[in-house]
Amino acid sequence: MTRDVETSRPFTLTDFARARSGNRKIVMVTAYDHPTARCLDAAGIDCLLVGDSLGMVVHGKPDSLAVTVEDMIYHGKMVRAAAQRAMVVVDMPFMSYQISEEEALRNAGRILRETGAHAIKLEGGVTRAPTVARMVDAGIPVMGHVGLTPQSVRRLGGFKVQRDAEAILADAKALEEAGAFAIVIECVPEELGHRVTSAVGIPTIGIGAGPRCDGQVLVLHDLLGLDETVKPRFSRRYAELAGTIREAAKNFASDVRSGSFPGPEHGFQ
Ligand code: KIV
Repeated sequence: MTRDVETSRPFTLTDFARARSGNRKIVMVTAYDHPTARCLDAAGIDCLLVGDSLGMVVHGKPDSLAVTVEDMIYHGKMVRAAAQRAMVVVDMPFMSYQISEEEALRNAGRILRETGAHAIKLEGGVTRAPTVARMVDAGIPVMGHVGLTPQSVRRLGGFKVQRDAEAILADAKALEEAGAFAIVIECVPEELGHRVTSAVGIPTIGIGAGPRCDGQVLVLHDLLGLDETVKPRFSRRYAELAGTIREAAKNFASDVRSGSFPGPEHGFQ
């Protein structure tokens, strides 16, 4: 395939920083395995996020809390192996960075070293800033995540729009000060997404945070329509793959049952 100039060389931290000039939005999609990561990379997606959303969309759990560091490394390796141009960011899962700064540093280093990813992402702001600063000091690029932080779903009482503007602004500023290179803003009113973006000097990536962030991220399974039971307001389906897969499987079953598969062209003589 051919690629335009914008998508022909690896996307780096410098490109993230450049997005602040506002002339090119950063495009980020979650990825959890090799074949889909390869498609996303070839499509020119700038950043592949190995999100701990894999707990829900891949492992079928109601939230991401059961995801482990081993899970993230397992999926992170597959995605990193597929990415030729895209930057790969791996989420730090629940309880891998909250217990102590030392443990956080050890887990972040392990994730980076064992997956070969370019950066890690963690949730939280003011309370996590010292941990972020330690990681950045150790040479680990950190993406922050504010607003709706899914690992706190129990405390937040569900996956709800977050409206505490002052707290979210303080979180974003603390992350910038600690050295984070970008911030995901999840599920906040559009105006707040814009306020946070204007208040910090690092790029913001929105998911349900309005169009005035420096980039946008979607969960792959939402974008592809892989689960017909889930249709978040902030997402857009670009395909209806659940139906496509079901049809393909039905056709295969029907061909086997009718005897039309395998045909002569599928056999060995
Ligand atoms: O885990 C994830 O997929 C995420 C995105 C929603 C940003 O953190």
